[in-house]
Amino acid sequence: MKVTFYGIGYVGLVQAAVLADAGHDVCCVDIDQNKIDNLKKGIIPIYEPGLTPIVEDNYASGRLHFTTDAEFGVNFGELQFIAVGTPPDEDGSADLKYVLKVAETIAMHMTTSKIVVDKSTVPVGTADKVSAQIEQVLNTRFDSGKAPTFSVVSNPEFLKEGSAVSDCKRPDRIVIGTDSSDAEDLMRELYAPFNRNHEKIIVMDIKSAELTKYAANCMLATKISFMNEMANIAELVGADIENVRHGIGSDPRIGYQFIYPGCGYGGSCFPKDVQALVQTADGIGYESQILKAVEAVNFRQKHKLFEYISKHFGLSENPNAIKGKTFALWGLSFKPNTDDMRAASSLVLMEALWKAGAKVQAYDPEAMEETQRVCGNRADLTLMGTKESALKGADALVICTEWQNFRAPDFGLIKESLSNSVIFDGRNMFEPLRMKKKGFDYYCIGRALSVIGNEGEGK
Ligand code: UDX
Repeated sequence: MKVTFYGIGYVGLVQAAVLADAGHDVCCVDIDQNKIDNLKKGIIPIYEPGLTPIVEDNYASGRLHFTTDAEFGVNFGELQFIAVGTPPDEDGSADLKYVLKVAETIAMHMTTSKIVVDKSTVPVGTADKVSAQIEQVLNTRFDSGKAPTFSVVSNPEFLKEGSAVSDCKRPDRIVIGTDSSDAEDLMRELYAPFNRNHEKIIVMDIKSAELTKYAANCMLATKISFMNEMANIAELVGADIENVRHGIGSDPRIGYQFIYPGCGYGGSCFPKDVQALVQTADGIGYESQILKAVEAVNFRQKHKLFEYISKHFGLSENPNAIKGKTFALWGLSFKPNTDDMRAASSLVLMEALWKAGAKVQAYDPEAMEETQRVCGNRADLTLMGTKESALKGADALVICTEWQNFRAPDFGLIKESLSNSVIFDGRNMFEPLRMKKKGFDYYCIGRALSVIGNEGEGK
């Protein structure tokens, strides 16, 4: 089938490449000429495991096209996918200007029937707005009854960064929101290569499909904030959240996934989508108490590591206690296997350290360039080439992201390199008792042992 994608970001590029890889003919349109030129040269704008080879192969075999020519894109695909960004507005609601601009562009150039598919994460009611936008432009181009027909479908994306290609190749569900049986047929044909073994396609009305995406992300964010709240309680009552996690995860109604406590969730989806649904609900006169609490707990959790640092170094007694100190920071991206820094906990931590006059020596396996771009050049941030070099001359180690190669570090080297044998671990990577035996002051999330065990020591 011939398909056009507008917006070659995470979702657009990955989905387009995976569809081309399954044999479809896919045209990718973006307004960023530089991005398009680079993609043609095999330079991929994001780090995503497995993406480069499928982009290169399918571009070389002519199944994947890259262009800034929107008119070409409109005439190319019978299915027109909108996958542009929906950045948060000042009040947290999703800004639809890019989505509606694409709708306008499609309507300006279409000469035959089109199925327009919302792939971007858009609030409930967006399909109606996209329809109205297309209708309005078509009315200016054609006499009444002469315009080509169109149908708008909601087809939310559930891929995770870091495993986006495999998530797309092996989706656990394909949600299609439509009121047209013709559109449903075409969508079923498009996704047939991914709908093997058991039925994954779930067809529903458009508004339910739009809400499904938000409900999924908000549910996952709720699990994380709930667990972080439990972790904070565990710490205070003298319990260990890792035991509690095992204890509750074994109940299949709860499950083991997305109950890992930590220094808060980040990324391009959870923070933005929770806020956007709060706004949608507010806009229709419903105050979402749960979602507001999910957001508030996450905000507090992102400050957790700095709270431990304050406590350890006695910042409340001496506001200059960490002035001039250097913190080695391992892990900058919002989670492992991505270079994405959006809403990363590391940014909140670094801001707090800098405000208190401390310096940061940071290392991340993939997000160094992105950190440089986001933070710019500053005297209190040095990006180091290895996790070991980040330790040199530092006063303490902080871990914000659980990259695999941080799991078995050379603890002897850490001890030798740091002036204080203290580790602040936002991802519970090590066992508190073992760390104590090794002579570290070890702070992690929700494990009373790590905090109680350190009381009064190592200052
Ligand atoms: C998320 C959804 O998982 C995906 O289905 C949706 O399409 C987009 O949003 P993503 O943002 O790529 O995907 O990352 P995800 O793996 O879900 O992690 C989000 C954040 O939650 C990360 O900061 C991660 O560290 C944190 N997290 C995750 C926890 O703190 N604890 C957990 O148990 C799981």
